[in-house]
Amino acid sequence: MAEIEIIEHDVIVVGAGGAGLRAAIQCSSRGLSTGLVCKSLLGKAHTVMAEGGVAAALGNVDERDDWKVHFRDTMRGGKFLNLWRMAELHAKQAPDRVRELEEWGAVFDRTQSGLINQRNFGGHRYPRLAHVGDRTGLEMIRTLQDYGVHQGIEVYMECTALDLLKDGDKISGMVAMWRETGRFVTFKAKAIILATGGAGKAWKITSNSWEYTGDGYAMAYEAGAELMDMEFTQFHPTGMVWPPSVRGTLVTEGVRGDGGILINSQGKRFMFDYIPDLYAPETADTEEEAARWLDGDKSARRPPELLTRDVVARAIRQEVKDRRGSPHGGAFLDIASRRSADDIKRKLPSMYHQFKVLAELDITKEPMEVGPTLHYFMGGIRVDSDSQMSTVPGLFACGECSGGMHGANRLGGNSLSDLLVFGKLAGDGAADYISGTNFSALINQEEVESIVRAGTQILNRESGKNPYLLHEELQEAMQDKVGIVRSNELLTEGIKQLDEFKEAYKQVKADGASQFNPGWHEALSLRNLIITAEAVAKSALMREESRGAHSRIDFPGEQDEWLKYNIVASKNGDGSMSTKKIERERPDSELERIANLTIEELEKEVESERNK
Ligand code: FUM
Repeated sequence: MAEIEIIEHDVIVVGAGGAGLRAAIQCSSRGLSTGLVCKSLLGKAHTVMAEGGVAAALGNVDERDDWKVHFRDTMRGGKFLNLWRMAELHAKQAPDRVRELEEWGAVFDRTQSGLINQRNFGGHRYPRLAHVGDRTGLEMIRTLQDYGVHQGIEVYMECTALDLLKDGDKISGMVAMWRETGRFVTFKAKAIILATGGAGKAWKITSNSWEYTGDGYAMAYEAGAELMDMEFTQFHPTGMVWPPSVRGTLVTEGVRGDGGILINSQGKRFMFDYIPDLYAPETADTEEEAARWLDGDKSARRPPELLTRDVVARAIRQEVKDRRGSPHGGAFLDIASRRSADDIKRKLPSMYHQFKVLAELDITKEPMEVGPTLHYFMGGIRVDSDSQMSTVPGLFACGECSGGMHGANRLGGNSLSDLLVFGKLAGDGAADYISGTNFSALINQEEVESIVRAGTQILNRESGKNPYLLHEELQEAMQDKVGIVRSNELLTEGIKQLDEFKEAYKQVKADGASQFNPGWHEALSLRNLIITAEAVAKSALMREESRGAHSRIDFPGEQDEWLKYNIVASKNGDGSMSTKKIERERPDSELERIANLTIEELEKEVESERNK
C-alpha cells in the first residue's frame, strides 16, 4: 500500500475516444496540465463504430440545411425528451467543430465543387453527414489523436480506472490499475472528466468491443452522481447476424443512406408497413417516390428505410417474429440492386471488405443479412448542459457516458457531433471550474486502500464464481429481459436475476497473479456492468410508456404525462439503488416553437432569414 504511485495533474480525462480526446485538447489549450487515461491503446475506441458520418448542418449538399432544422430533427428523433439546451448547443456548434477538425487535418470526402461531402441518414431531413467513406469515426480519432499528442497532453495507456476519490464533496482524484503489471496508481486532480463511452457489453448481441463496460457510469454512481435516462438503450437496426462469431458487428446506416433497402424472406420491402404517424408527412409511401428521392428529386419524400433507428429495429424484430425473417434471424439489406459495384466499393469500402472477409459474401452482388445490435446509450451521467459538470463538484462527463442530449432515441451521426461539441464544452467547463476555485485536492489514503483491497480480494479468495460465466449469465439476462421489447414481467424477472448476480459478484474469483490477468480485468469490469444493468432495468421498469428506444408491450404508445419527466438512478446510503422521476427542464419558448413547426413552415422561415 505504501508504494502506490501518485501522478498529479490539474485535470484527468478518462477515456480516449473522440469525446475524451476533444476534452483533453480543450483542457490543454486552456493551460491546464492534462492527463488522459485509457483502458486500451490510444485510438482504440468505439468512436470508430460511428462509420457513416458526423452530423452537422453545413448545408454543402442541400443549401436549405440550417441549425434549426438539425435541432428539430434531433428533438423529433429523441421523441421530445432531449434536454432542449443540449440539443440547441449541439445543432448550433456542430458545424464549427467539423470545420475545426478539417483544419486539424481530417480528410473528408468532397462534393464536385470541393466542399465537405454529406450523405443521408435516418431521421435527418437533408444529406447532413460529413463523411470519409464508411470510416468517418476512424478518421476523426486519427485526427484528434495526431493533433492531441502535440498539445502537451500526457497519455496513460492500458490503465483501468477503478474508482473516484473525493475531498469532502469535491472530486480529488481516482485510483487506477496498470493492466500490464497489475500495480495500482493514484491520480490526483482538481477535476475529472469521464468520457468512458457506454456499456454494450452487458448484452449478448452488441456492436461494442470489450472496453465498453459502463466504467464511467459505475464510478460516477459510486461517487454520488446521478444517472439519467438509462432506460433508453439504442439497438442499431443493422448488425451482422451471420456467422455467429461476428454477430452484432455494425453494418453502417450509410448503406441505407446511400440507397440500401430492407427486404423480408418473401421478397417484400417491408418498411412501408411501419411508418409512424409522426413521420408519415415526410416519408415516401411508394417505391416509386422513394426511387425519385434517391435520384435527387427534392419534392419526393425520404424512403422508409431512413426512419429513425428505434422504428427500423422494431420493424426487423417484428418481421422475424412473424416468421418472415432471413435464414439466420434477421432481414436482408440490399444495396447491390441499387448501386453499381464501383459506387459501393468507393462509398462503402469497409462494408465491402467486412462482408468479404467475415462472411464470404460480396455485397456488390448479394444482399447482406442484418439484425438489431445493442449499439449506444442515450442515457448517462446527469450533467449541466453548458458546463457538462455532474451533480458532484469537479466531476464532468461528455460523449456517450453523459445523458440528456439524445432523449429517447439518437439519430445516427449525432454521436460524432455530440462528442466534438460536448467534449469541448466539458474541457471548458473543467477549466472554468478549476480557475474559479483555490481548492487543492487532498487524497484520502484510507479511501485509496479500500479501493485497492476491493480489487485484490478478487485474486486473494481461495475459490469463488468464475467472472466469465457470470458475465455470460448477465448478457443472457439483459438480452432476453431488457431487450428491444420489454414488459413488467420481463423486467421484474431481469431485476431479480440482477440481484442474484450482485450476490454472486461478492464471491467472484480470478485465478492467477496480478500481472496481465484477463480474468481479473473481466471481474473488475463486471462490477460496473452489473451497476449499469441495474440502472437500465430499474429505469425501464419505472417508465410505464413506450417512447423511442424504450418499448413496453404492456404500455404501448407515448403518454403525455411521461414527457414531463426524466428518470434518474442514484445510490442510497445503505448501498442500494433507487430510481426516481425528476421534472424535465422547461423548454425555452423559442426552441419549443421551432421544434413544433411543420417542415414546410420551418423551410420557409429559414429561407426568408437567408434572403434578408
Ligand atoms: O451506422 C453508423 O454508421 C453508425 C453511426 C452512429 O452510430 O452514429
